[in-house]
Order: sequence, then C-alpha cells, then structure tokens
Amino acid sequence: MSGDMTHEEHGAVAVEQEHGHGHGAVAERPFADPGLPEHQPRLTDIDEKAAKRSERIVAGLFVLSAISTIAFMVCYTEVPNNTSSIVNFFPIGAMSASNFALGITLGVALFSLGAGAIYWARTLMTDVELPQERHVLESSPEDKAAGAAEFNRGLEDSGWKQRPLIRRTLLGAMAVLPLPALWIMRDLGPLPGTTQRQTAWAAGELIINDNSISLDGTQGRGIKPEDIQIGSLVSASPAAVLTAGEEVVDMMTLSAILLVRLNPADIKSQQEINWGYEGIVAFSKICTHVGCPVQLYEQQTHHMLCPCHQSTFDLSDDGRVIFGPAARSLPQLPITVNADGYLVAKAGFDQPVGPSFWERG
Ligand code: FES
Repeated sequence: MSGDMTHEEHGAVAVEQEHGHGHGAVAERPFADPGLPEHQPRLTDIDEKAAKRSERIVAGLFVLSAISTIAFMVCYTEVPNNTSSIVNFFPIGAMSASNFALGITLGVALFSLGAGAIYWARTLMTDVELPQERHVLESSPEDKAAGAAEFNRGLEDSGWKQRPLIRRTLLGAMAVLPLPALWIMRDLGPLPGTTQRQTAWAAGELIINDNSISLDGTQGRGIKPEDIQIGSLVSASPAAVLTAGEEVVDMMTLSAILLVRLNPADIKSQQEINWGYEGIVAFSKICTHVGCPVQLYEQQTHHMLCPCHQSTFDLSDDGRVIFGPAARSLPQLPITVNADGYLVAKAGFDQPVGPSFWERG
C-alpha cells in the first residue's frame, strides 16, 4: 500500500500520527519527516523478458549448486587421499588432490546457492518498502488476566497440583538432564592431578639440551656445568624423551625445564642453593598460571616473565611469584652431576608442575 504513496503523502501520515499519539498535544519536531523515497521500479519489474532472464540465472545457479554437491560426493570416494596424490596448485602451493577437489566442489555448491538466493531477492522479489508503525508492546490488563487464567486452567487440567508424584519425578528428571554435559567433559583428557605429577624426571635422569635434539628426536646431547655461563639460559628436557616414541610431545611438554646459571651470592634461598649445582638452577618451564611456556629472562634482576599474562617469577628466590596472576612459585628440579660430569636430576619434582588444580594439595 505505501509503495504507492508519494514522498509528501508519507510525510503527511507521519505528522498526523504525531498529533494522534500525543492525546491532543502536537509533538514538536526538530525537522520534517522525510518519509520514504519514491519507489523506483527495476527493469525486472517492468520488463517480463528481463524477469525471465533473471529467473533462468537463479535457476542456473541452483542447478550448479546441486551438480557441485554431487561432484563433492563423487570426489570424496574417487579422489585418493594419500601422499602420492600431493599436487602443486598455483598459487596455493602443495596440497592433496582430494582436499583440493573437496574444497572446490563444496565451495562452488555453497557459493552458487547463496549467490542464487541473493540474485533472486535483488531482482525478482518485491523491493517495495513498507513502513511498520510502532505500537505498545505490553499486553493490556485484560489480555494478561486472560493469559493467567488460561495458564491456571492448563495446570488444573494437567493434574500438576493434584499429582505430586508426577510433578516431583519430572522436576528430578529435569534436574539431572544437564549432568551428561558435565560427564562428557571427561573426554577432554586425563585429570590434571594424574598427569602433572608424572613428569619423566627421576634421580639420575640425564638433562639434555633441547637445541641438541635431532630432527627425528632420537639423538641429544647432555649438558656439562661449564657449558652454561652466568646469566645464560638453556631449555632442556630429560633424556627419556629420546626414546619416548609417540609420547614424546606429552613428555616434553610436561617435563620441560629451564637451566639458568646465577652467581651463587645472588641466590636468596638456601634450598635453592642446595637444589642447584654451583649456581646452576633448574625450574619447570610451565607457567603455574595456565601453563604457557615461560622464557623471557631478565638476567640483571633474575626475573622470568611469562609472555601470556605477564606473571613474573624470581629465579633467585625459589621461583617466587612477584607479579601477575600465577598463584604459586615455579617448581624447582633438584640437580647434580653424574660420574661423567653431566648434569642430571637429583630427584623428580617435589610437586606437580603447571597450573593449579582442585586436587592439588
Ligand atoms: S600462563 Fe603464564 S601468566 Fe598466564
């Protein structure tokens, strides 16, 4: 209806409504209501041939979508997905032919479906704008009373009040319904209490330099005290990672340590001196906040910063937290040297590494 209104008519309607809503008072407007611009018919509104052409384009896009969907299913079963089917697609680079085919077919199917719908809406569906006046959203008192009466009658009819057994069992069933959501959280992985206590460190475990680990992960070099200068920092792992096979990532993640050599005179804690070797101290590399690797070391202050949320630990004072959200110190690994002069663990960590968790003592 309003599609046939002129610009001036819309303005007139708006002004009239302003008068009506104000209970007789005329609302002041800072500027005139411009109303809707005059509707301009599109070519497809006035030319049946153009409309037919648009219809064919839309139908063509939908057919293309259907064909691409079928092609996707064919590619899924027919195009091999193994290393022999790796091909180079300029400019994307090397990728599996199967992934390429599946991506292209699904992409074309979704794109042509969307493009067809948009083209249909823009050329053939009506584009006449219709003003919708606002009205009071709140129901009238009569409607509210009628709704409440209807609800109460429904309660009576259902026997909700008269049958407490059904009522209570239904409420009980609904109360336990969300529990599966909690239950399936067990699939997120092992409980932290069981993993964070089990690093690969034990008495006599050789400490190897992470930089010396070969690409295949089976070779690595031990570290002698003279390899570490005062102020320097070395990322290290237990030698057990060299034979860990598929467990290597988990093991390296949990057991990662940092070796730092301090001037023994700068170390503030007697335990830290006892657990170190000639000023070389070893701390877990896993931040005790939420587990990022800490590695930003400031040698003048002996502060170790976690880049994730800026927790800062004092490595000259038992790894104590001096800033940030971490709630506890970095665990220290007691170390010594073996008969060949290489650094080894004197024992495992005396506490779980990484973030805090509920069961932690
Ligand atoms: S993980 Fe280290 S500060 Fe948050």
